[in-house]
Amino acid sequence: MNVLVTGGTGYIGSHTCVELINAGHKPIVLDNLCNSNVESLNRVYTITGEKVPFIQGDVCDEKLLHEIFSRHAIDCVIHFAGLKAVGESVAKPLEYYQNNLGSTMSLCRVMRAHNVKKIIFSSSATVYSGDNEMPLRETSKTGNCTNPYGWTKYMCEQILRDIAKADPEWSVVLLRYFNPVGAHKSGLIGEHPNGIPNNLMPYISQTAIGKRDHLSVFGDDYDTPDGTGVRDYIHVVDLARGHVAAAGYMMSHKGEAVFNLGTGHGYSVLDMVHAFEEANGVKVPYEIAPRRPGDLATCYADPTKSREVLGWEAEFDQVDMCRDTWNWQSKNPNGYDD
Ligand code: NAD
Ligand code: WQD
Repeated sequence: MNVLVTGGTGYIGSHTCVELINAGHKPIVLDNLCNSNVESLNRVYTITGEKVPFIQGDVCDEKLLHEIFSRHAIDCVIHFAGLKAVGESVAKPLEYYQNNLGSTMSLCRVMRAHNVKKIIFSSSATVYSGDNEMPLRETSKTGNCTNPYGWTKYMCEQILRDIAKADPEWSVVLLRYFNPVGAHKSGLIGEHPNGIPNNLMPYISQTAIGKRDHLSVFGDDYDTPDGTGVRDYIHVVDLARGHVAAAGYMMSHKGEAVFNLGTGHGYSVLDMVHAFEEANGVKVPYEIAPRRPGDLATCYADPTKSREVLGWEAEFDQVDMCRDTWNWQSKNPNGYDD
């Protein structure tokens, strides 16, 4: 299949290009590089021996999209492109709504014009309402998002669901990711956030390498086994393979479907710190800090539906996640700038 991968130079997109190629598909990447480096695709070439066609541009640019769909015989689209920093979305709501909703609507309009009606969308566990029982099922309550980023995911899901409802030829797969971590085992591609990391794993690995002097653990008085927040961390290669499974599913299914991509296991912040130290023989100094506003005590998936319907389940464990994160971090202390 020829797969247009928007946001394909980014963290999850680059890993998905590798897994698409491994499965015999042909990714074509469109990215404006606002949060990534095209070097990631050179590394994808080193890993796979395949050159991924790359177009630098914005998914909101419909003229460019028309050119891409005219030039390449696209079978389906994986839409990763989007802004994803929760805190920044609170400060810049207009930019987030414009970019994340605007790109999704432009993309779907142009897809429709070229009769390409298969799309996988990067959604997030953040669309689930905070008052659900754990584990979260696809049928759990959504909404009550705590920030504009979360609302953009919620609203894009709704837009895509309505598109599938209006035209039965569409196939829409909404993938709700839990907490993606880790890197390809080669250490050639991985996550390199700009500035101070917002997420736990990059903060741990930057502390271990000495870029940050300590990790702040946001709260130790939650109702969890050790008082720190519990999350469902999933290896990015497992996540990438979930997209390959979803692309296969779309070939024989129309309409809209939603799947959790998580492991079903919850680990606390201190579990992750200790596992990282043990797996890699490094120290991660930490201090207990106040809770971060908007955080839940616990969040983990029920991945049963993905296993039963997509035939996909996570294969990598916590040790793999910690080892591969460190392998990438220690080989590329400054990300793709090295
Ligand atoms: P990322 O920032 O590494 O990748 C997103 C890519 O999209 C970047 O390369 C960026 O340059 C590009 N982009 C953004 N807006 C664009 C536009 N208008 N036109 C073209 N390119 C554009 O992030 P990621 O972690 O790889 O996330 C991929 C997707 O998964 C995002 O939609 C994100 O919201 C979603 N998601 C991520 C997580 C996570 O924790 N990483 C969790 C749930 C969902
Ligand atoms: C994990 C745990 C923190 C940093 C976010 C988004 C979500 C999704 C994934 C995109 C929590 C604790 C963190 C630190 C800490 N992204 N922590 N010190 O908040 O579960 O999810 O990323 O869709 O939408 O909200 O992930 O990695 O930020 O936090 O103690 O320096 O680590 O409190 O318990 P989160 P996270």
